[in-house]
Amino acid sequence: IDSDEQILIDIHTQSTDLYHHILMNTEMGQSALDYLHNRGLKDETIDKYQLGFAPSNSILKTFLVQKKYKYQDLRKSGLFLEDDNGDLKDRFFNRIIYPITNEFGNVIAFSGRILNKDDNQAKYLNSPETTIFNKRKVLFNFSNARNTIRKEKTTILYEGFMDVISAYQSGVHNGIASMGTSLTDEQIYLLQRNTTNLYVCYDGDAPGQNAINRSIGILEKTQLKLGVIQMPSGIDPDEYRQQNGESKFKSYMHSALESVISFKMHFLKLNRNLDNENDKINYINDVIREIAKISQPIERDVYINQISEQFGLNKIDLTNQLNKLVNRNN
Ligand code: CTP
Ligand code: MN
Ligand code: MN
Ligand code: MN
Ligand code: MN
Repeated sequence: IDSDEQILIDIHTQSTDLYHHILMNTEMGQSALDYLHNRGLKDETIDKYQLGFAPSNSILKTFLVQKKYKYQDLRKSGLFLEDDNGDLKDRFFNRIIYPITNEFGNVIAFSGRILNKDDNQAKYLNSPETTIFNKRKVLFNFSNARNTIRKEKTTILYEGFMDVISAYQSGVHNGIASMGTSLTDEQIYLLQRNTTNLYVCYDGDAPGQNAINRSIGILEKTQLKLGVIQMPSGIDPDEYRQQNGESKFKSYMHSALESVISFKMHFLKLNRNLDNENDKINYINDVIREIAKISQPIERDVYINQISEQFGLNKIDLTNQLNKLVNRNN
């Protein structure tokens, strides 16, 4: 890490402190703090994640100029918008601030959330790419979770920051999230070095289901042992905690774990009507294609039996078709 990068990290550390102070101790932060409390976050959790609030005046710029940071460094930090005259003003305003850390725990970026859904703007706003922030490399909460991940050899991948934070508050300390995008090669590399099992736990809505399927498609090509933790329909993990409490959240993370194939069997049914012959045949073919990806013959047999029973199909025919695909995969 060179000294230019260290200055940008210092700027982020100072900014984190300021935003956190505003949230916890000032009138400006009161409505944001109420909002977080209403979502069931404890002060201890808010403190652990150093959550903050960016008010509507350009307070960050004033603060950092007072601290004698140079114009060029402020510019490079990504924390400011620049007008035609080169004047800077705060990028984040009227947003709850989630500090994003690198794998060593240094704050390198922020994500800001609007307070009210009806605001006609994106729910989350992220820092732009800078010399210290490469979105492709970052896994939210990885630096916090690393020790637990290495001990338990297991990681849970959530969709959103609030899901990870909810999990943490519930005693589930191995949660991470990407920055609202599909997993990148860099993130997968980081995971492969640190975990054996990876469980995908996305939202129980249609975008969440599609995103699970996409992530599995990417992760299947790795050595990671995959599983899926399916949320009840229509809610995300954070909402599950809000509705059911922390101890139920924690036990749900164990009890709802399912195999990739059982997720696929469910997923491939969506948007299909299995009373329709064509849909049914396509479904069975798709499922057999998924079963063919399983490396253990006994495991394949278990699922072929399921399909055979479920659809009243001859097991030998199913196995023949499966074996053609298995041979092609090898
Ligand atoms: N996201 C984003 N920009 C948006 C919406 C979402 O970057 N306009 C990313 C964020 O990282 C977010 C994740 O996608 O955490 C999941 O989106 P969503 O489920 O909509 O948000 P939640 O995490 O559930 O946020 P909240 O509970 O605060 O509403
Ligand atoms: Mn504090
Ligand atoms: Mn979602
Ligand atoms: Mn969500
Ligand atoms: Mn949510």
